[in-house]
Amino acid sequence: MASQKKKILSGMRPTGKLHLGHLVGTLDNWIKLQEEYECFYMVADWHALMGEYEHPQEMPAAIIDNVVDWLSVGIDPSKATLFIQSEVFQHLELHMVFSCLTPLGWLERCPTYKEQMREVTTRNLNTYGFLGYPVLQAADILLYKAEKVPVGEDQLPHLELTREIARRFNGLYGRQVFPEPDGLLTAASRLPGLDGRKMSKSYNNTINLSDDETAVRQKVQTMITDPQRIKLSDKGHPDICNVFSYYSIFAPQVREEVSAWCTGASVGCTECKKRLAGHLVEKLAPFNRRRRELLEDKQTIRDILAEGRKKAQAVAAATMDDVRAAMGL
Ligand code: TRP
Repeated sequence: MASQKKKILSGMRPTGKLHLGHLVGTLDNWIKLQEEYECFYMVADWHALMGEYEHPQEMPAAIIDNVVDWLSVGIDPSKATLFIQSEVFQHLELHMVFSCLTPLGWLERCPTYKEQMREVTTRNLNTYGFLGYPVLQAADILLYKAEKVPVGEDQLPHLELTREIARRFNGLYGRQVFPEPDGLLTAASRLPGLDGRKMSKSYNNTINLSDDETAVRQKVQTMITDPQRIKLSDKGHPDICNVFSYYSIFAPQVREEVSAWCTGASVGCTECKKRLAGHLVEKLAPFNRRRRELLEDKQTIRDILAEGRKKAQAVAAATMDDVRAAMGL
């Protein structure tokens, strides 16, 4: 019998190692949602290729690496379906169908597209494929008839487009084949990086989920603290301190204590960072352990992805039957 749970689909592009920003921004949320919804979590490798097509060689390793990270933080393949986008060919079929009926203007007006055209200078994104980025994303979502899509705020225009495409399809062919999915906004926990800017590979300010203890301790020591606190005897301002924001997220149980030692100038920034590193190391330790176990047993990873692909393909094939029936193909 079909599951009564509502369906969720989300995806992540395999563009490099995952970091603490992915954990608090996305993965923690995915872990919660897998209890309540029927979840499909996808490695969006075609989407990654649209940006990385000049240097795609690193993608295969990143795909597996990301999946290992998902599993090691607690994404559970017995609860959620994990799969690789390019292994389910129906994504491209539906992308093609949607490409036929999506007016160019919708894509040219898309704010994410305009922004990237303006701001990305290191890669040439002025391509036919990249314009259709949100069309492929609509295909990802609607192929599973997902009703909810957990995403960050930056992705909302793509969801709006997904709804428009669903409406246009349903309207053209006179059948309610697709739902109009809603975004499920991830609580805006945008984690600052080591330097206080958004944590991002391109700023080289990340703590990676796979970093070992030495790396974590080293990186945390480079974190910028309250710039007005120069000497130990200067009183600090936790509310503007990046290190303090980490305590709030990763060690809330000691938050009050940290605030007191900072404002009372009883513990210096170096020591404060050393203790923070201890909390982070403790947080990452179980991930590191599971990651090592998984990497020793690569067959398990392959099995999980093969199983995920099978489940995803079954749903995708059924949807494509509906699509062809609606269109009279
Ligand atoms: N565009 C998304 C991002 O960059 C990744 C993505 C691809 C996605 N397909 C998706 C997210 C489908 C949600 C649903 O973050």
